[in-house]
Amino acid sequence: MKNFSILGYGHIGKVHEQAIRDTENANLISIIDFNLPSDLDAITYSTLESFLQEDTTTDVVVIATPNGLHREHAIRCLKAGKNVFIEKPISLNVADAEEILAVANEKGLRVFSSMQLRFSPVVQYVKKLVENNALGKIHMVNVQCYWNRNRNYYKLREWHGTDDMDGGVLYTQFSHFVDIINYWFDEVKCVNSRSFNFSHSDITEFDDSGYVDFIADEAVGHMTYTTSVFNKNFESNITIIAEKGTIKIGDQYLNQMLYSDLKNVCCSNKVSTEQKNFHPEAIQEVSDALFRKNESILDGKFAVDLVKFISAANDFAKENKLHQMNAYEVSHS
Ligand SMILES: NC(=O)c1ccc[n+]([C@@H]2O[C@H](COP(=O)([O-])OP(=O)(O)OC[C@H]3O[C@@H](n4cnc5c(N)ncnc54)[C@H](O)[C@@H]3O)[C@@H](O)[C@H]2O)c1
Repeated sequence: MKNFSILGYGHIGKVHEQAIRDTENANLISIIDFNLPSDLDAITYSTLESFLQEDTTTDVVVIATPNGLHREHAIRCLKAGKNVFIEKPISLNVADAEEILAVANEKGLRVFSSMQLRFSPVVQYVKKLVENNALGKIHMVNVQCYWNRNRNYYKLREWHGTDDMDGGVLYTQFSHFVDIINYWFDEVKCVNSRSFNFSHSDITEFDDSGYVDFIADEAVGHMTYTTSVFNKNFESNITIIAEKGTIKIGDQYLNQMLYSDLKNVCCSNKVSTEQKNFHPEAIQEVSDALFRKNESILDGKFAVDLVKFISAANDFAKENKLHQMNAYEVSHS
């Protein structure tokens, strides 16, 4: 049994609370946030500082504060001797992610990241197909993320839409999709990207849409994404085109097998599930991994790969925009 405390009791902090309560080998000790209800069945603190001064029993702090605070909060917890389970993304740049891992290493502590869609049976199924070479040579990997984030979403939380706290739609909305590509393939490298702002330019500091070209091992990869879909989320999916089969998985939580046509493999549609919340599996894994003391699929090093990919995509997009603006100025001068 491992003892958990939660820093940040907003939307996802509450999901973690329930996941800890639902998990046999996890015990909830404290919840830390500015204004907490008085009837919580946990010790409450209004600041991280007061928690770190008083707490003697927490093994892992779940960091569920806005993206831009993860680095500071993780490092303060690690320096106080706590393992950390950080919500995605673990940070908004590679240097911060590496610093978190370096501090953990120095202190002999663990960093985990909330890449809980790795536990979807559909994702696990494809992982095994790739590992066992059941798909043969993989030619193409295609990621499509077409969602809606309306003005209310950006007004609801101060940190949404800002460069320094939110970091953009690849980090906040679509990082799970990038993570699953990283999970399936050994080496994933972003090679180009462009971004556009179709409908949020007056409300967000970053673009709402774009595409990313990448290489996944030897496969050609392409991701298109937007939060500008009319009215509501439309679809999100990942397609693999390979020598011995075609596979398409999807839905917001990557829990559905949408299409599969595989040589010598039948019944793959049966892996679809209605389960959407994989946080309980993640809490269980963090607790087990601390007992096992060996590698975990939620280890922080995998979360660094995610930050590397997205930060490269954002850099390519900025560079391409600059070239475009320069070309425009030259042609109009
Ligand atoms: N894994 C997932 O599927 C998933 C889903 C949604 C959000 N997230 C991530 O979870 C994190 C939180 O997102 P959210 O939607 O819950 O945001 P939120 O705004 O609903 O909650 C954040 C909470 O942190 C608290 N907080 C901020 N600064 C604090 C501080 N210094 N000390 C104590 N508390 C502080 C706020 O008061 C708020 O209650 C983000 O990193 C987000 O990207 C992950």
